[in-house]
Amino acid sequence: MSENKYYNIITYGCQMNEHDSERLAGMLEEMGYQHTDELEKADIILLNTCIIRENAELKVFGKLGELKRYKRENPDLIIGIGGCMMQQDEPVDEVYKKYRHVDLIFGTHNIHHLPNLIEKIEETKDRVVEVWDEEEGLIPDLPSQRESEHSAWISIIQGCDNFCTYCIVPYVRGRERSRPVTSIVEEAARLAADGVKEITLLGQNVNSYGNDLEKKSTFSRLLEELNEVDNLKRIRFMTSHPRDFSDELLEKIKNLDKVANHIHLPVQSGSNKVLKEMNRGYTREYYIDRVKNIQAEIPGASVSTDFIVGFPGESEEDFKKTIELVKELKFDMAYTFIYSPRSGTPAARRDDKIEDKVKKERLNRLMELQNRISYEKNQKLIGTTQEILVIGPSNNDPEVYEGRTSTNKICFIDKREDLVGKLVEVKVKSAKSWTLEGSLIE
Ligand code: SAH
Ligand code: SF4
Ligand code: F3S
Repeated sequence: MSENKYYNIITYGCQMNEHDSERLAGMLEEMGYQHTDELEKADIILLNTCIIRENAELKVFGKLGELKRYKRENPDLIIGIGGCMMQQDEPVDEVYKKYRHVDLIFGTHNIHHLPNLIEKIEETKDRVVEVWDEEEGLIPDLPSQRESEHSAWISIIQGCDNFCTYCIVPYVRGRERSRPVTSIVEEAARLAADGVKEITLLGQNVNSYGNDLEKKSTFSRLLEELNEVDNLKRIRFMTSHPRDFSDELLEKIKNLDKVANHIHLPVQSGSNKVLKEMNRGYTREYYIDRVKNIQAEIPGASVSTDFIVGFPGESEEDFKKTIELVKELKFDMAYTFIYSPRSGTPAARRDDKIEDKVKKERLNRLMELQNRISYEKNQKLIGTTQEILVIGPSNNDPEVYEGRTSTNKICFIDKREDLVGKLVEVKVKSAKSWTLEGSLIE
């Protein structure tokens, strides 16, 4: 029998989870495990879960059911489940009672305990559950097994204090905790020395970075420091809360050469009544003013957003306000979601829920409009020169290579292995709603 031990991690949810999975992988590699894509070969399988909407939960339960057969074939296999779903009592109970093949349940605040938890299972041959209700400060810096050689996530602030009335994140990720500036800058410098060209700063609300630090700082100041890191080419960040998007920050994005010209600024709704009930802390007028400012100050910058349709009590009039806002601001891209009640959040207790049929119909109207706008905006880029960071082969066709513009648009070019990880200029030849096609300028 081979001595080698293998792991696989299945990740759901947002970039925070993807980054956590890279850190879980980093710890497993340090323990001597190697990655495998074949689940039948794995000695440990981890599920990193998301609970943002109901369908995220359903997917996880489906997957857990599927994993049962691997355990039957290999009784020594360790199956673990962590992530945001495991910070809530109900799903933990359900997994513990109904999915007896799960050996380990762990929360988002204790991912750094993974090695101890695995040892405990091996020693006791028993199931282990460790979910902390509250974080004990910051999760310490952990080794990361990065997916990409050239791009890396850096977590700058954990948790969220905003309590938007529909959202489960503050309950499963805890209060806002910023990482000290020095530790972030050191990590960026280490990554850059390792060949990383692009970093993406992660937080549920990066704009409130630094408020809670003993030595107070701001997101703008952090960007200034990171811009000085040698060999780093691009700095991205997400997500920005519109309420905290300051003029100072806009100026930094404009003037710091490495900071990408893309801002993800989730609006959620165009109706003041709905925004108020969501507890978003800004009005439609304020938001429109912010985006127009961005578009005027940084011509060519891209702005993307998130929408929730069918929030409780959303009338046709309210929804039309969202449609008007989209027509006025012309986002480059938008993620559109159907409202999903999350147990424990204030909005889930409301009895004026919108019918599924109406929610779906609104979603379709919004998506259709946004697709058309994205298409039109990308068509205007045909003939222009764009700088892209080449990532590597595209998922669908290994003969086509993929890169990203500073404005976060995917651009395809002909295969050129020597360009991977490099910033190159391309001329845009054609464009669709979500992608561009370019030819290299040599
Ligand atoms: N921190 C970010 C995003 C967090 S979650 C922000 O404040 O914008 C990503 C997106 O999921 C949100 O922007 C929102 O559009 C959507 N979302 C969150 N909770 C939801 C729910 N209960 N139903 C539907 N969509 C939801
Ligand atoms: Fe959720 Fe609002 Fe926090 Fe974003 S800002 S994570 S939507 S509570
Ligand atoms: Fe989901 Fe947790 Fe992210 S709930 S969206 S994985 S913070």
